[in-house]
Amino acid sequence: MWDLTGKTALVTGSGSGMGQGMAKQLALQGAHVIVNDLFVDKAEHSAQGLRAQGLSASTRVFDVTDPAAVRASIAEAEAEFDGIDIMVCNVGNAGAEHMEQAHFKDSLPENWTKFIDVNLYGVMHCTHAVLPGMCERGWGRVISISSGAGRTGLNIGVSIYGAAKAGSINLMRHISQEVAAHGVTCNAIALGLMNTVPEEFAAPVIKSIPCGRLGTPEDAGNMVGFLAAKESEWITGQLFCVDGGSAPY
Ligand SMILES: NC(=O)c1ccc[n+]([C@@H]2O[C@H](COP(=O)([O-])OP(=O)(O)OC[C@H]3O[C@@H](n4cnc5c(N)ncnc54)[C@H](O)[C@@H]3O)[C@@H](O)[C@H]2O)c1
Repeated sequence: MWDLTGKTALVTGSGSGMGQGMAKQLALQGAHVIVNDLFVDKAEHSAQGLRAQGLSASTRVFDVTDPAAVRASIAEAEAEFDGIDIMVCNVGNAGAEHMEQAHFKDSLPENWTKFIDVNLYGVMHCTHAVLPGMCERGWGRVISISSGAGRTGLNIGVSIYGAAKAGSINLMRHISQEVAAHGVTCNAIALGLMNTVPEEFAAPVIKSIPCGRLGTPEDAGNMVGFLAAKESEWITGQLFCVDGGSAPY
């Protein structure tokens, strides 16, 4: 069950954080995982960690906001592995920059671009590069890692980030309709507060999470592994909240 033997998965930003948990879960299910990151040392370290556990992993270093680099690197990987079957668009936050928080009225337009670039354009570039091959082969999984900030309003100074994350959720919904007949599913995951956020930010918020703890890379990985599975072929165009019960519908 959930076996991904013979499949190749590309997880962006899996050199650290949540992406590492997603990469590990997909590799545990039998997929070959391509670890992407902006930084070669992070990518190599993460892939090496998987290989040390007997799992199958390689690396591709590129910036998800650079369309030419995304296209070139994905084309190379497709040639090497006979296609990419599972695309996890995980890079987000403010990319490699510090996640500054500011109310919209106090924000500077020149600071908006980085949020849109990584959280929306990055998803678009990677998805656009893998979809033709997936459709041609008649099988594919696209999973976009969004956030609770992309589905609800929050008073924590993340409106531009939230707007980009909302865009990525609706992007998946639309694309899912276009490619469903080709055996390709497109879904989004809205993560809640995860254990990579700074302690001072997390501490006052933990008590408001019904499950009583922050999310982990394993929590994120488990949902990715489920959506990537062959058994999930009838699930598409959906948003799944992985947030310890923070956002009940
Ligand atoms: N951490 C949280 O609490 C939280 C909450 C909700 C949603 N999310 C979302 O989950 C995803 C993962 O979050 P995280 O906190 O693990 O990520 P992170 O900020 O720790 O970054 C993960 C990796 O992405 C790499 N990276 C940054 N910019 C890149 C680029 N342009 N191209 C390629 N690689 C790049 C970084 O080097 C890093 O290794 C993001 O989309 C984030 O928005 C996180």
